Amino acid sequence: MRMRNKYKKPTSLNCYAGSRYRFSLVVCSFIGCLVMLHFYFLNQSQHSQHAVMRMNNEHPFYRDLVEVEDENIKIPPPRKRSPRAIKRKPKRPTTLIEEFLDESSQLRYLFFPSQRTAIDPTKDAGNESLYYHPGRIWLDTDGNPIQAHGGGILYDDRSRTYYWYGEYKDGPTYHAHKKAAARVDIIGVGCYSSKDLWTWKNEGIVLAAEETNETHDLHKLNVLERPKVIHNKNTNKYVMWMHVDDVNYTKASVGIAVSNSPTGPFNYIKSTRPHGCESRDMTIFKDDDDMAYLIYSSEDNSELHIGPLTQDYLDVTDAMRRILVGQHREAPALFKHEGTYYMVTSGCTGWAPNEALAHAAESVMGPWETMGNPCVGGNKIFRLATFFAQSTFVLPLHGFPGIFIFMADRWNPADLRDSRYVWLPLLVGGPVDRPLDYSFGFPLWPRVSVYWHKRWKLPYKWSGKK
Ligand code: DGJ
Repeated sequence: MRMRNKYKKPTSLNCYAGSRYRFSLVVCSFIGCLVMLHFYFLNQSQHSQHAVMRMNNEHPFYRDLVEVEDENIKIPPPRKRSPRAIKRKPKRPTTLIEEFLDESSQLRYLFFPSQRTAIDPTKDAGNESLYYHPGRIWLDTDGNPIQAHGGGILYDDRSRTYYWYGEYKDGPTYHAHKKAAARVDIIGVGCYSSKDLWTWKNEGIVLAAEETNETHDLHKLNVLERPKVIHNKNTNKYVMWMHVDDVNYTKASVGIAVSNSPTGPFNYIKSTRPHGCESRDMTIFKDDDDMAYLIYSSEDNSELHIGPLTQDYLDVTDAMRRILVGQHREAPALFKHEGTYYMVTSGCTGWAPNEALAHAAESVMGPWETMGNPCVGGNKIFRLATFFAQSTFVLPLHGFPGIFIFMADRWNPADLRDSRYVWLPLLVGGPVDRPLDYSFGFPLWPRVSVYWHKRWKLPYKWSGKK
């Protein structure tokens, strides 16, 4: 005999009522989750805002750095032109970017201020001392314009000195053929040393072009760009990685050189296509655990690749991840703050400026998420053109967590040796940013901001030492 269990709850409602019940349960749980997530992220956002406010209180100079400076540049009315001139060159520059690229623009002096305004750190500048003036000519201690384009900085613990390496482009600009990009023959990698990041001594060409052997990667008619140097604690060597290419950018390889001293000379070892892939704009990044990584634009610049270097930093390992696939980014500059990795990249428009994007990742090997344009201030065109410059390196400011120097190149394709440096403060923190990749719109990462300043300087108490 089957006993009826009177405590047994009915297991089935009628079908329609059951699905309605389940549906309301799902909706309620979903709304509950949304409310909880909303409060969680609101709390997070307030936390980071408070963090910035706390920093502001502790260091008044933060206020100066994040003060928004506007630019109010008016495009001049078109000059009167003869009908013949109009026929010869009908299209007149109309946008600020076109004005920037137009050598005869009346606004030229705004983007490429004359020699008269050059920064000479050896002269007593009084109150102007230690001020960066993005875009002005910057002289070394010999009174010559610094030649360290597409560069990066190494801090050498032992000598407590900063070394700035970059493309030494002090030669004539020309086009190898009609369709080729503007170029300067390779001269080599320039190196400058400094204790205060403002006064730079020329340490000479630490890796020189090859003058005669046409088959050499560094033959002067080839391309050497974006050199970066890191120090290997185990081998005690300074290792340089760079983009090496032929005049048409079809070789698309990395070059590796090594030295016993930060001031060279560097011995060129070889070039390679990392992971068997094309490599154009690149950088290297050394993590806190001394692991180093190569990041490079690949697959016709449509994506970036990232992979660890070998222990001696002289090669890549087999591991590689494709990141920012299909995003067409170059000029990567990678940095780390509070365990999170960040990167600023540019678009791919040759020497012409374009919009920077900031990206973030929990692990250096990715996945990387694109957050948005980090530029703050200037005006809309300034922000859309990365202040008329292109990222090359992000340098942490020791003793000021969350503050970095954003180093960028304002290329002058008409005369590449006269390209300028745009150094600006980059801050991580403040209201969290929303990754573009998420349609949900939940903010996840602290904001990366590069603040425009006509002039700015490092904090008074900053000693320049680690
Ligand atoms: C953009 C790159 O970022 C530069 O390093 C250089 O390769 C130019 N393109 C050449 O047009």
